[in-house]
Amino acid sequence: MTAATQLRLEIPAAHRAIQTELHPDLNHAHVRFINLGKTYDGQQGPVAALHGIDLAIQRGEVFGIIGRSGAGKSSLIRTINRLEQPSSGRVLIDQVDIGEFDEDRLVKLRRRIGMIFQHFNLMSAKTVWQNVELPLKVAGVPKEQRDRKVRELLELVGLEAKHKAYPSQLSGGQKQRVGIARALVHDPAILLCDEATSALDPETTQSILGLLREINRRLGLTIILITHEMAVIREICDRVVVLERGRVVEQGPVWEVFGNPQHEVSKTLLAPLQHALPSELQSRLQAQPQSSEDAVVLRLQFTGTAHDEPDIAALFSALGGRVRLLQGGVERIQGHALGQLLLAVTGSSLDAEELRRRASQWAQQVEVLGYVV
Ligand SMILES: Nc1ncnc2c1ncn2[C@@H]1O[C@H](COP(=O)(O)OP(=O)(O)OP(=O)(O)O)[C@@H](O)[C@H]1O
Ligand SMILES: [Mg+2]
Repeated sequence: MTAATQLRLEIPAAHRAIQTELHPDLNHAHVRFINLGKTYDGQQGPVAALHGIDLAIQRGEVFGIIGRSGAGKSSLIRTINRLEQPSSGRVLIDQVDIGEFDEDRLVKLRRRIGMIFQHFNLMSAKTVWQNVELPLKVAGVPKEQRDRKVRELLELVGLEAKHKAYPSQLSGGQKQRVGIARALVHDPAILLCDEATSALDPETTQSILGLLREINRRLGLTIILITHEMAVIREICDRVVVLERGRVVEQGPVWEVFGNPQHEVSKTLLAPLQHALPSELQSRLQAQPQSSEDAVVLRLQFTGTAHDEPDIAALFSALGGRVRLLQGGVERIQGHALGQLLLAVTGSSLDAEELRRRASQWAQQVEVLGYVV
């Protein structure tokens, strides 16, 4: 069993189901962007990074942000703790507009919002313990309380044994665990993650995602994460937004966006997860049948909108003849069956259009790709 399947099995279906029910509720949003815009003063004139962003992120959800490089993902996430000042529009946290905050209130706000980064940003001359303790010291928390908090967090991230180590003595995954512990010292309500797993290998990524999911569940934190790894979104996010040139081009529950992406950018980003037609098959594919012996090649897509898994035996018998599975599979995201099957049908008494029509009872989208000898 791979690490990926293990992690998926660890997330109870009931929890997933609750999360899936979440829908944008504007009046109770944890974080809300209203007509948000951001323009930078670039060296060659103004750079418009965000335009008219309207989004509502619910309390307790894991919310993913994807988009091509330069789409505005980091700019957007950094307006939540005011590392970036919006040029127009508003950011509300718990219905409170943070645009009016003075320095004092900003300091308090930033303590309620943890952040982790791709390059960990640890102090190399300080130990694991000291790195986690530092923000508490800065905030003037008494020693006894600091010790309790640091111990509790190192236990949460599984690094008690490494508390005396320096960052240079840690693996990437361990460094990110320190980053996570440090981000949680003030019991934040929101955790921002900007490419937090991008520097890690796939197995370490899985373990960090498992930790983030546990934190989300145990502490009820809202997690907002940027990633260019679509598998990360599939693994732990409830909803996802796709940004392109500073605008929202698509958003929805992960299963819906992954199962049936609408915008060109989403399709491109998600293409690596979709199986293309094998090139060897592609080269043999004909638009018209050469003889009645030719196999009809069908592509069945499951976009997650049906409640039941496809009944393969019923499907095959409805098509008649001999049905061969060329490629494909189904996976479950948030309890929805997504995937595709490529089938070759020979010796059926039905023509291609009738095969397509019949297969449509089991799959949400069916195409006749062509014929092969
Ligand atoms: N401080 C800045 N000054 C000028 N332009 C900036 C600044 N920060 C970002 N930009 C520009 O704003 C746009 C959005 O940048 P941003 O960093 O938000 O993108 P991103 O989606 O996070 O990209 P990546 O995936 O590469 O991290 C880009 O065109 C970028 O060049
Ligand atoms: Mg970025």
